[in-house]
Amino acid sequence: MAQVLKKLTVQVLKNNNVDLFSSTAVRASSTWWSNVPMGPPDVILGISEAYKRDTDSKKVNLGVGAYRDDDGKPFILPSVRKAEEIVYQKSLNHEYAPIGGEATYTDAVAKLAFGEDSPVIKNKTNCTVQTLSGTGALRLGLEFVTKHYAKNKEIWMPAPTWGNHPQICNTLNLSHKKYRYFDPKTNGFDLQGAIEDISKIPEGAIILLHACAHNPTGVDPKKEEWVKLSQVVKERKLFPFFDMAYQGFATGSVDNDAFAIRQFVKDGHQVMLAQSFAKNMGLYGERVGALTMLCGDPESAAKVMSQVKIMIRTMYSNPPLYGARLVTEILTHPEIKTQWLKDVKLMADRIITMRHKLRTGIEGRGNPRKWNHITDQIGMFCFTGLKPEQVERLTKEFHIYLTKDGRISVAGVSSKNVDYVAEAIHKVSA
Ligand SMILES: Cc1ncc(COP(=O)(O)O)c(C=O)c1O
Repeated sequence: MAQVLKKLTVQVLKNNNVDLFSSTAVRASSTWWSNVPMGPPDVILGISEAYKRDTDSKKVNLGVGAYRDDDGKPFILPSVRKAEEIVYQKSLNHEYAPIGGEATYTDAVAKLAFGEDSPVIKNKTNCTVQTLSGTGALRLGLEFVTKHYAKNKEIWMPAPTWGNHPQICNTLNLSHKKYRYFDPKTNGFDLQGAIEDISKIPEGAIILLHACAHNPTGVDPKKEEWVKLSQVVKERKLFPFFDMAYQGFATGSVDNDAFAIRQFVKDGHQVMLAQSFAKNMGLYGERVGALTMLCGDPESAAKVMSQVKIMIRTMYSNPPLYGARLVTEILTHPEIKTQWLKDVKLMADRIITMRHKLRTGIEGRGNPRKWNHITDQIGMFCFTGLKPEQVERLTKEFHIYLTKDGRISVAGVSSKNVDYVAEAIHKVSA
């Protein structure tokens, strides 16, 4: 009886055009944002969340791109601690920074990238500004390109590249395409494919290059391969945009890792450069980075600076001071800089050691596949070549978390878990 009555009431309401979901409709119209669709969750954060929820004691997080010490803990660099003390003792005020950042900071970071004796710095042909870490530098640089670059406004990126690169371009409506980079057959650099593709990029287009420690593959061109790439980029009259988020992290030497940029500059390229101090100084949360545009002559540099300042002013007005103060202390005190160079090497060396242990751990179990790429690749990440279903098994059966593309952050491997990880990789891939 109750059911029949309910049906009848519904019918009457419908016939009278009464919106049965009126309460939802009212709720929806009470927000300005009812049109906003739910965005996809961030892949890496999703992995970290799943890792946190996992209660298994053997769980390992190889998804996150942040350095961990051999106990799996975040690492505060001794050089950073020292710089913190100095900054504290200086008892500085908290006034605004200049729009482009303090000159002591921008000078120091440009020297670190291009070399102390670089002619671009001596001749003041660089426009360098402090940015909100590497991401902020990429965003500002690419926005500058969309507004002021008068040639071919399309950017070519290595396949694959860091996921945020295409996302930033999408936000800016900047057309992006791919050139071959990673060879899945060898798990190494596809020099021939890269050269073939770059040779066909339309003149004047922008080419994105990872300066070192390529993310996500861990595959870097060798020095002689960079020389070849520089030539082809020159022949095609392309505009090189370098992303250097890992200076020092690849080989343990900041000068070695700046080889590509310095080679391009030597070959006469006017590069753009996004720098980050998140990884190599462990200053993830301080958001300290830099954007440099080489301009050919000081007059152009001044004009570019005037325009980039307008962009900064209307976006976030001026950059945060604290991280920049730490970086400045580290780079300008010879003693602290020496400590920092040791700190960077320590991090890079631990990663290199873990690569060796992981490789021998898998091979030592008689795995039939080749694993040389684990030690051939460099920097924080390793593209293992594991297939999505193998990755799924690693997570489901072994509580090891990584991205579906088979990328692992070697920084998450430690002497305590390396055997377990090697055993698990062996089991899912043998
Ligand atoms: C290739 C690459 N570029 C830039 C960045 C920027 O990082 P951040 O904004 O933390 O400096 C990252 C960080 O993971 C990266 O991997």
